[in-house]
Amino acid sequence: MTPPLPSILGAEVAGIVEAVGTEVEGIAPGDRVAGSVFAAGQSFGGYAEYVVCDAGFVTPIPDQLPFEHAVALMVQGLTAFHLLQQAPAADKRVMISAAAGGVGSLLVQLAKRAGAKQVIAAASTEDKREFARSLGADAAIDYTADDWSQAVRRQTDGHGADIMYESIGGAVVREGLKALAPLGQMVIYGSLNILDFSLGVPDLLGLIFQNQTITGFATAPLLTPKSLQDGLTHLFGMAAAGELAVTIGGVYPLKDAGEAHRALESRHTRGKIVLAA
Ligand SMILES: NC(=O)c1ccc[n+]([C@@H]2O[C@H](COP(=O)([O-])OP(=O)(O)OC[C@H]3O[C@@H](n4cnc5c(N)ncnc54)[C@H](OP(=O)(O)O)[C@@H]3O)[C@@H](O)[C@H]2O)c1
Repeated sequence: MTPPLPSILGAEVAGIVEAVGTEVEGIAPGDRVAGSVFAAGQSFGGYAEYVVCDAGFVTPIPDQLPFEHAVALMVQGLTAFHLLQQAPAADKRVMISAAAGGVGSLLVQLAKRAGAKQVIAAASTEDKREFARSLGADAAIDYTADDWSQAVRRQTDGHGADIMYESIGGAVVREGLKALAPLGQMVIYGSLNILDFSLGVPDLLGLIFQNQTITGFATAPLLTPKSLQDGLTHLFGMAAAGELAVTIGGVYPLKDAGEAHRALESRHTRGKIVLAA
């Protein structure tokens, strides 16, 4: 996804419309909007005071919703939303990796609302696990501990997780397969440790003999102007009505983008980190 350098990073923006093209309808200068640069096939250009956006991928923001919250609901919100459309959580015991992160913190809430039987949040520190519980997770486990799949088994009365929404990769995938129930599904939507990704013969035999599935997931290929605007309108409406908590882990001036990146890499952040121009 990294564009050739030097490049202006940033795939999602929110702000006030300055001008529109002659054939644009329904959006006017002065409107508060969210612009999904990523949906138009670009993963860069957003760290800027002014951005040109395809009008089809621009969505109005309700007056009550701060720009920071709108930005937090774009890539991360749409990812959580579409993950649950592709692999529904209703009546399932679900497990969520990085549950205090941007996608994870929204996924915990949306999975509960979608009728999950049980939501088990995985995070690296007690502080993050407490945060995930405060968002509605039924249990939280430390997936940096050895044999953490056993903790999932204990929390599910031996059953295991029916679905695991996974974004870390490497050893987390291998241990996560041990935490899956028979017929369980692991949905891999990210892989922070992709270079450490490998499955061995025991992992595959376990998968085969327990009728389990590993599924890949990416948001961008699922987006059309209509599905993007429908999804965002839904998420913005929920957040504006107080039905979905949006966590802003920090707001940095644009000139301090490097600090924001270091905060993300430090693994100490919660929710969304926002740059303000
Ligand atoms: N498929 C898609 O369409 C799609 C869309 C958006 C995002 N994603 C992916 O979803 C994942 C989460 O995205 P996000 O925006 O929610 O990220 P985020 O807010 O930065 O959260 C990332 C979390 O991952 C955990 N983590 C584990 N190993 C890490 C490492 N080496 N460096 C940094 N964090 C690490 C940390 O939680 P703990 O400390 O609790 O482990 C951290 O809080 C990423 O893999 C991203 O690429 C995929």
